[in-house]
Amino acid sequence: MKEERAQWSSHISFIIATIGSAVGLGNIWRFPYIMGENGGAIFLLTYLILIAFICVIPLCCELAIGKIFKTDTINAFYKINPKFKWFGWLCIITVILIPCFYFVVGGWILNYIWIFLAHHIPDNFTRYFSSYSAEIGMPCFLTLLFLVMCAIFPYRGVNSGIEKANNIMMPLFAVMLIFLAIFAITLPDSQKGLEFMFTPDFSKFNNGMILTALGQALFTLSIGMGVIITYGSYLKKDTNIIKSAYTLIFFDTLIAVLAGIMIFPVVFSYNVEPAAGATLIFISLPEIFAKLPCSVFFGVLFFILLFFAAVTSGISMMETPIAAFIENFNISRKKAAVILSVIIGIVSIPATLSFGLLSSFKIFDKTIFDLLDFTTSNLLLPFNTLIICLIAGWSIKHFSKEIFKNKIYNKIFDILLKFIIPIVLLLVLISGLK
Ligand code: PFF
Repeated sequence: MKEERAQWSSHISFIIATIGSAVGLGNIWRFPYIMGENGGAIFLLTYLILIAFICVIPLCCELAIGKIFKTDTINAFYKINPKFKWFGWLCIITVILIPCFYFVVGGWILNYIWIFLAHHIPDNFTRYFSSYSAEIGMPCFLTLLFLVMCAIFPYRGVNSGIEKANNIMMPLFAVMLIFLAIFAITLPDSQKGLEFMFTPDFSKFNNGMILTALGQALFTLSIGMGVIITYGSYLKKDTNIIKSAYTLIFFDTLIAVLAGIMIFPVVFSYNVEPAAGATLIFISLPEIFAKLPCSVFFGVLFFILLFFAAVTSGISMMETPIAAFIENFNISRKKAAVILSVIIGIVSIPATLSFGLLSSFKIFDKTIFDLLDFTTSNLLLPFNTLIICLIAGWSIKHFSKEIFKNKIYNKIFDILLKFIIPIVLLLVLISGLK
């Protein structure tokens, strides 16, 4: 028998779950180092403008498509026009490929929680990280463990699993983040870190940076893979889309900025290069934590914070294909969760081994991990978002009326949706190909 379609038990639960999806490694891990590489404050300013005026449009599209059609991503596009069913599938394939590399990082986080808890703190994190990530057994085991942790909540259902997990983890996450950010500000020389974040250096402004900021904004808002369509499909009919979209943008950005406030003062106080790239979180910061008086406390707190951020995003990556499998293969939620976990488990193993055993196995000069990251973040994400805007703008009649009642706002929204945003996204896509 088909299960009845779930609905969020309150609007606040929807907002928390959507923030849980949006706030992830993208905010805590990627945002600070991309900002470090792109000149700090000028990047932040560009990012804020783009997210508030450009990314809000596809975000509204996904929320509205979910709310109008009240079904999974594949059927939502099928209902718009049966010709678009393939695109629903493409979104699902995208959202299945993302956890295949994202959960590898989740496994690293579990390992770091363990080494700090067990007081196995290495002397040299550079050496430790490269030798640990090249191992076979432990990293694979922890990737799969992280997968199970993300699958268990959607397995239990929308209200008793997803909602509950987010309602517990997200407030704890916020408290930890605020605590660590306040601690960071009290460090000597924290001023330099804050100046780096908040004093724009206009000479660093360039086209490449704009496109990087836009790509980051799409990734962090979980746009372009049907996640927001799926979460939006559990919304009540009377939900205000634009208000929900800006609430999500506000909190997602606030958390990314707080993550910066937590990281840059520490980085400057201990003279670490702010543009240390992806290794900032797994090498530079742990090295600093190890030097602090309460190293175990700070290490565990920081990696649990990262863990909550990654799990709540992981849950949404699992829920989107699960909802699609339930509707399209007519199977139970539990069965869908198990099948999906097996698929992701199989693909994520070679991705985990990309740092050791399979490090020389390359396709287009990229390891499996890098290829998954590149194909999804740089190609599929902007491409899917472009198609979503085109379909919403050109194939759904009076679409903008779902978002605004005011005629002038409708016109502006239509022009942005049909012409401006597709051109901008095309540019992101072309730059991603380079
Ligand atoms: N928005 C998440 C982050 O910033 O880490 C990433 C993400 C979540 C990507 C959910 C894809 C997804 F389906």
